[in-house]
Amino acid sequence: MPLARRQFLRSAATVAVVALMGETRARPAGADRLGFSAVPATLRDAVTVPPGYEAQVLYPWGSPTGIAGAMPAFAPDASNSAADQAVQAGMHHDGMHFLPLDGSADRGLLVMNHEYTDEQLLHPDGARPMTADKAQKSLHAMGVSVIEIALTPAGWRQVLPSRFARRIHGQTPIRIAGPASGSPLMRTAGDPAGERVAGTFANCAMGVTPWGTYLTCEENFHVYFGAPKISPTPAQRRYGLGAGAWVDYWRVDERFDIAKHPNESNRFGWVVEIDPFDPASMPVKRTALGRKHQESATCTLTRDGRLAIYMGDDSNFEYVYKFVSRDKVRPGNDAAARAANRDLLDEGTLHVARFDADGRGQWLALRHGHGGIDAASGFASQAEVLIHARQAADIVGATRMDRPEWIAVDPASGAVHVALTHNSLRGQPGMPPVDAANPRAGNIFGGILRWREDAGDAASNGFAWDHFVLAGDPAVPGSGARYPNAEADAFGCPDGLHFDSAGLLWIQTDMSGSAIGKGPMAALGNNQMLCADPASGRIKRFLVGPSGCEITGCVLTPDCRSLFVNIQHPGETRADGSGSPNSAWPDGTLPGSARPRSATVVVRRRDGGIVGT
Ligand code: FEO
Ligand code: CA
Ligand code: CA
Repeated sequence: MPLARRQFLRSAATVAVVALMGETRARPAGADRLGFSAVPATLRDAVTVPPGYEAQVLYPWGSPTGIAGAMPAFAPDASNSAADQAVQAGMHHDGMHFLPLDGSADRGLLVMNHEYTDEQLLHPDGARPMTADKAQKSLHAMGVSVIEIALTPAGWRQVLPSRFARRIHGQTPIRIAGPASGSPLMRTAGDPAGERVAGTFANCAMGVTPWGTYLTCEENFHVYFGAPKISPTPAQRRYGLGAGAWVDYWRVDERFDIAKHPNESNRFGWVVEIDPFDPASMPVKRTALGRKHQESATCTLTRDGRLAIYMGDDSNFEYVYKFVSRDKVRPGNDAAARAANRDLLDEGTLHVARFDADGRGQWLALRHGHGGIDAASGFASQAEVLIHARQAADIVGATRMDRPEWIAVDPASGAVHVALTHNSLRGQPGMPPVDAANPRAGNIFGGILRWREDAGDAASNGFAWDHFVLAGDPAVPGSGARYPNAEADAFGCPDGLHFDSAGLLWIQTDMSGSAIGKGPMAALGNNQMLCADPASGRIKRFLVGPSGCEITGCVLTPDCRSLFVNIQHPGETRADGSGSPNSAWPDGTLPGSARPRSATVVVRRRDGGIVGT
């Protein structure tokens, strides 16, 4: 047995149970695990689920959010105005959570991210030329939705209108809190105090706190900044800025011009806390958690009752982080608990992970004045350490990873799992070499790495790690794929990870549109969701999405009878060169017959039973 695995298992013997937030156990003990029939890998342009299950579409892009007096219908020709879009579902649904209302599994708030826009689909005349109205509509199409939903005899329905319904988008006023608030690097012409920012965007994965607030993560914020002539600073380059904008807001809105307003981009790349139960509350950017291409903010409690938050930074060769709060969490998720924990995320220590070759690992604190992070190395203050967390992590010698995406904590064992989606540059000339944690050169398939904190305590500085899966098609020569079980269904490019309350791990994939169904991915089908039983190592394919989509965002109701999943960017692939999407899901059957729309899908067993069993 390799040393890494031995280390990992030894630490498992001493692990304490760490409770996952926001869900209660519902699955009966002794029930058959993974009792469903696996679906085959397929390139069908449809949502495929196991026999005995049904999938229902909910809240596609453009649906009214449910704000009383402002519920414009979706215009299939994309003629909805910017004002309409501000009260409708955004594009490209990603991370998501279900928060029960009144303790019920049948009524609750569904809170979800809208990650990015497809300008070609968003406007009747496509992406160009950019206009002020189009930029406004585009900013309104990202951010977060809070919708109220209820289970009826005809399935799940949106409650319209709902007093909770809310859209937070790229222009919503947001407070900046924590050590970087007010820092000179956060001040702009529009906000000389550096304490208030217009909006959140690039909202990818998520987290939920024990007190019932939602954490949305700003991932690829850099692609919204540009300039006529760009000469980015090294610090800007490190965050991907200056490589050219995906969407040319800067042509019509000066704050996105990084030559004129270089600090505006420092105000993105954060975790943003939202109270979905209070539609009047102002969201807050929590700078103590550090700035990165933020992907996931997974919360768990330390042994002494503080909060630990695991975060991935999704770029090639970036890091895995952990924040540990200074103060203890006041238990509960009612209004009083939310008020008591209001500032909890503003004080604490940010750490970054080093994965050693012997299967051990260390959390390295990013603290100004310690470990070589100081004025001599270019950091004037803790605010600068947080704004430039990547550069601080370089100094302490963290391990450069193959694109950390979602992180999920096993409620039974406490093992923390991170999806490392892929990194084809690994080991290429001039690029970082392979290492124990990132062992494949030209890593096109990705994998899932896991660790156990020493003494089962999320506050520990040390941990033991191993690989749960090295993904890919084992039939492809040299794939390097390795699964915990010979019967496992193969997959590529894991991204979303979610443990349900019974300890089953849901794995979602994001193979790029240009790779799906071709070459080494030929046998893997469209992007999909699989269910793994970490205890047995069984992995079965549960759902396959329509053409061109990625599967992301995952949550079950507390009774595990409804599973919510997001179908993001169906039809994304335009390989025929015509500019025409390769899917019309969910409104049309043939590509070209309707604008494809990202949407939530809710999956239930026809007999009302527990999903996945
Ligand atoms: Fe938005 Fe890294 O996925
Ligand atoms: Ca992702
Ligand atoms: Ca991804």
